[in-house]
Parts: sequence; structure tokens; C-alpha cells
Amino acid sequence: MWLQLSLITSKEQAPLIEALFENMGALSVTLGDAGDEPILEPGLNETPLWPSTQITALFEGDSNPDNLRSCINQSLNSDVSRQLKIERLEDQAWERAWLADFHPMQFGQRLWVCPTGQSPESNNAIIMELDPGLAFGTGTHPTTALCLKWLDSINLENQTIIDFGCGSGILAVAALLLGAERAIATDHDPQALQATLDNAKKNHVDSRLEIKEPCQMPAIQVDILLANILAGTLIQLEPLLASHVKPGGRIILSGILTAQADEVSQAFNRHFKMQPPIIQDEWVALEGTRIC
Ligand SMILES: C[S@@+](CC[C@H](N)C(=O)[O-])C[C@H]1O[C@@H](n2cnc3c(N)ncnc32)[C@H](O)[C@@H]1O
Repeated sequence: MWLQLSLITSKEQAPLIEALFENMGALSVTLGDAGDEPILEPGLNETPLWPSTQITALFEGDSNPDNLRSCINQSLNSDVSRQLKIERLEDQAWERAWLADFHPMQFGQRLWVCPTGQSPESNNAIIMELDPGLAFGTGTHPTTALCLKWLDSINLENQTIIDFGCGSGILAVAALLLGAERAIATDHDPQALQATLDNAKKNHVDSRLEIKEPCQMPAIQVDILLANILAGTLIQLEPLLASHVKPGGRIILSGILTAQADEVSQAFNRHFKMQPPIIQDEWVALEGTRIC
């Protein structure tokens, strides 16, 4: 049994309450989005909080809830502590608990992303084994799903690809499993590079994958470049991304909200013939062919 305390507060007060829970002996303190205001991509080494932040602290099951409550009441003003929720949690196999929410997912005709040990009942399935980790990219987000479906829909034979902003490496690994000859994955987050290497090994495609920090990227032009980042970053990176695509090669841009599609398309018009957006939920992917 565990004792879980949670409350919702402002981003200004959250660090104080986090420190208070730690001083009271919390085994873990977790901060999350209490409203629906996702922080899509914080800058490197930044950990911004949500305007309305949920703080959850876990204590040993034999902790006294009345003592914890009075300690909080003495330290915080009553507005905050009045919202305090205290509940008991049964112990369970936590490392397997996430599996309840993560099932095999199909992208296009052939590609499946499956948690370890699970597989679809389909004869022509191409299966990527992938478990959620610290780096972005499991396929559950529409921006990744749009790229995976696009990869599944084309012939990747003899193609070299760059996965720019690789996160978990899901796009590079998918391209290699679907028949691409070679992939280069890059990300400015070292954890993403490690996750990409781990996922490539797990799927036995690491011999065809190179992993590079952005500053180590070779001056290479490839058949296909995929970049699922965010609209503003894509626009900023346009000259660099374009320089890595050979004439006649293709670029796939994702991480773009429908309202941002025109602006991104226009920024890439200089080097690419851009296609109409491919839409999923409120997100779009843009495909372009390098013209000069
Ligand atoms: C939305 S995730 C995409 C991950 C994965 N490619 C996918 O499709 O699910 C964006 C990734 O781009 C990386 N990134 C953002 N800006 C970058 C930059 N300027 N250079 C390299 N990587 C960047 C982030 O660290 C993050 O891992």
C-alpha cells in the first residue's frame, strides 16, 4: 500500500509545494498538466511548468495522513491545502502497468508498432517492437502517425533517409524495417540519440543506421528527409533541411497545426514543390519534392 497526496496549484507555487513534499519524506513527486495546456516542445535544458499544475506525491503506506495534512496546513495557505486529496494505492507491478494503455497499433497497410511480446494477427505485418521511453515517439501522437502512414505508403527500396529530430528513432527504424537501405538519425537531445540506438538494436536494423549529433551531420544529400519538429523550428531550419535533400528527393514535415500549414508551406516553397497538407485531427504533414 502507498499513500498518495495530490493537489492542483499555479506554476509559481508548484516548486514550493514540490520542495515541501520532498522535505516531508515523499518517495516521489510528480508534476503534470492539470488543464489542457500541453507544452509541446520545451527548449533544450528548460523544464517549464503548466499554468495549472497537478502535483502528486507518494508516501510510504504506513505514513499518518492526519500528520501529513496538518504539516501541509501549517506550511501552505488554506486555499491550496483545502484542495488536498489523500488516497491509498494498492501496490502492483508498476513496470507492467503501462501495458494496459499501450497496444499494437497499425499504420497504413503493413506497419505495426507493438509493445515487447505482443504481435498482431496479420500475415503480412511488418512489426516494430517499441516500448514507451523518455524520448518522444511511440506512434500514439498524430504527428508521428502521419509520418508512419506516409512511410508505409511508398516504396523505400534503395532509399537513404534522414530522420531529423529522431526522438525515439521511430521514423528511422520504421523506414529501415519497411525496406530503406540506410538511415541517418539526428537530434539535439542526447537521450533521444541513445533511445534511437536502443530501438534500432531491438529491431535489428542498427547496422544500417547512423546516429549523429546535429553538429556531426555529414554534408550528405538523401532521397527522403523526415522532420517531425514544430512549425517555428522547421521554418528556422529550412536552409539546413533543404541542403540535405537531393534534387528530386522528398521532404516530409510534421508537427504542424492546421492553422500553420500555409506559413510552413510558403517557407519551403523556395526549394520544394509542396503538396496539399495531409490532415489528422488538428495536425498536418506536408510533403515536398526538391526542385532546385
Ligand atoms: C516531436 S519529436 C519527434 C520524434 C520522432 N521523430 C517522432 O516522429 O515521433 C521532435 C524531436 O526533435 C528534436 N529537436 C527539436 N529541435 C531540434 C533541433 N533544432 N535540432 C535537432 N533536433 C531537434 C527534439 O529533441 C525531439 O526529440
